[in-house]
Amino acid sequence: MQVQTSNSFLEQLSAVTEGWDGSVERRYCHLSNISALLNQHLERINWVGFYVMKEDRTALVLGPFQGKVACTDISLDRGVCGLAACTKGSVRVDDVHTFPGHIACDSASKSELGVPLISRSGDVVGVLDVDSAQIGRFSEDDQLLLERVAKIISEALWT
Ligand code: SME
Repeated sequence: MQVQTSNSFLEQLSAVTEGWDGSVERRYCHLSNISALLNQHLERINWVGFYVMKEDRTALVLGPFQGKVACTDISLDRGVCGLAACTKGSVRVDDVHTFPGHIACDSASKSELGVPLISRSGDVVGVLDVDSAQIGRFSEDDQLLLERVAKIISEALWT
């Protein structure tokens, strides 16, 4: 496992995720702290953050993140994030250079994991995206953990 999965990590995730008041402003407040927490706990990553589904559901828009400046809009037919949103499934890429349509934000990124955020009503509301400068950084266990994290986040911050 490349991430600390101790109770303290999950307790901290719950602490920064719980208590949403239903407003868009506070959703962004929680997502900001969650991106900081993930950045502290995930090893060997160079970007972690959120893309949020536009209201008209045509594209994803950059949300809170940690890392270098990133592209702001991703249409659903493009990139790792677009595919994760369209298929409602995680997209784990060992080598981004072999992934057709990969959108390079940080040229250092070599592997990537995009996990859809799915609301309690079953809609894709965004994508949790993590990049690493190491090829093959993300294991199946990492994917399972981040899917668990994504579920906690989307169920707490969307209706
Ligand atoms: N590589 C992503 C774009 C977002 S950045 O990695 C921050 C993609 O192909 O969707």
